[in-house]
Amino acid sequence: MEKTAKLVVNGKSYELPLVVGTEGEIALDISYLRSETGLITLDPGYANTGSCKSCITFMDGEKGILRYRGYPVEQLAEYSSFRETAYLLINGELPLENELNRFSVMLNDHSLVHEDMHHFFQNFPRRAHPMGILSSMVNALRAFYPEIPERSEEEEINITFTRLLSKVRTMAAMSYKISRGHKIVYPRHDLSYCANFLNMMFDSPVKPYVIDEDLVDALNVFWILHADHEQNCSTAAVRLVGSARVNLYAAISAGICALWGPLHGGANQSVVEMLQEIHDSGGNPAPFIARAKDRDDPFRLMGFGHRVYKTYDPRARIMEKTCNRVLKKLKIHDPLLDIAKRLEEVAVKDAYFIDHDLYPNVDFYSGIVLRAMGIPLNMFPVMFAIGRLPGWISQWKESMEDPKWKLHRPRQVYTGLQERDYVPLNKRG
Ligand code: CMC
Repeated sequence: MEKTAKLVVNGKSYELPLVVGTEGEIALDISYLRSETGLITLDPGYANTGSCKSCITFMDGEKGILRYRGYPVEQLAEYSSFRETAYLLINGELPLENELNRFSVMLNDHSLVHEDMHHFFQNFPRRAHPMGILSSMVNALRAFYPEIPERSEEEEINITFTRLLSKVRTMAAMSYKISRGHKIVYPRHDLSYCANFLNMMFDSPVKPYVIDEDLVDALNVFWILHADHEQNCSTAAVRLVGSARVNLYAAISAGICALWGPLHGGANQSVVEMLQEIHDSGGNPAPFIARAKDRDDPFRLMGFGHRVYKTYDPRARIMEKTCNRVLKKLKIHDPLLDIAKRLEEVAVKDAYFIDHDLYPNVDFYSGIVLRAMGIPLNMFPVMFAIGRLPGWISQWKESMEDPKWKLHRPRQVYTGLQERDYVPLNKRG
């Protein structure tokens, strides 16, 4: 294959290097385009822009492939745990037994949240969205856990990673308990990562929570499926904010804010709201499908479509199976699942959805799983955020270790007014 591509502008020709990834993906390296030609590229929404080289996650949107560090997500969902997958993403390899044990001890050691932080949680208005609370509190972590100069840089970074993974989970459960006016449940050293979360959410002095291993498994799968997704909106936000060399807490807080949006991590909440609306209007999905196809109506079928996947999102299939398993185990008949299945059946055969390559994404079934677990609707994006943490951390780490690291600073094509003279206030109008 050629190593360069030729660009001809105004009769002058330029050679642009081609970069080939390990899975054969080819990119045009335009780093010197402006200095050599005076041109920039224009790519709204970065749909065609590779912002970095990365060896963490591989996605093939045409074939519906997702792999973390080379491992298919289907295998990780079946055999791994979220804790182990987090280790894999951050460190690049599956841990040996002693490494995994050490990681668990660290997660346990860092699971408590500074008691002074509890006041912050108490003082948010009761109706504050948990994503707003989480992003603020993650930013505040920096003030409570400043760097210790005696520690080596590597030790400090590892502690920060573990602290985030462990404390964000504790804080999410704390904010839920406080929103209900209930007593906080502290993390327990004898419980696994996922079991601990469920216990902190649902244990109560008047009704002890009984850990259900099937729900723990389902939560592991849910978080594994969300653990990374290469350069998505929130990860790009973490890399971009991190590129200014802010501390990791601030970069992750920016990622949480990006994830909050209904087109990204907020979609799992929007899907359930949409299914509920269909249910309340009699259960027929047809008018909603018609609205989604109407160009004059801003309504979209939530949980459908993806910037990269032009076929089934591989995570959606696993999530659907998990959904069926959880509902069967809990003996729940959720009418929203029936509606979701009917909606999917009709939409995937509809010419509009076929022509636009719109298939169910990870969020289509995940909300029904979370609902069955007892997770309140407004906490769905928080569940996504806990899952995405290992991805954000590993992508931030990779960007910081990149010898070609650069401050992220895109350019633009200016389309505003040309230079004009200032008009004093009394001469305007
Ligand atoms: N329902 C109806 N039409 C849609 C939908 C949808 N869900 N998604 C895209 N389209 C249409 C859109 O109207 C446009 O049509 P046309 O070309 O005729 O004007 C075309 O498809 C392309 O849309 P786009 O917004 O330019 O495509 P995108 O790649 O920017 O969109 C997306 C990706 C996820 C924002 C979009 O599919 C969407 O809004 N989906 C619903 C929200 C959702 O489920 N988000 C979760 C994504 S998965 C979790 C995650 O990784 O964040």
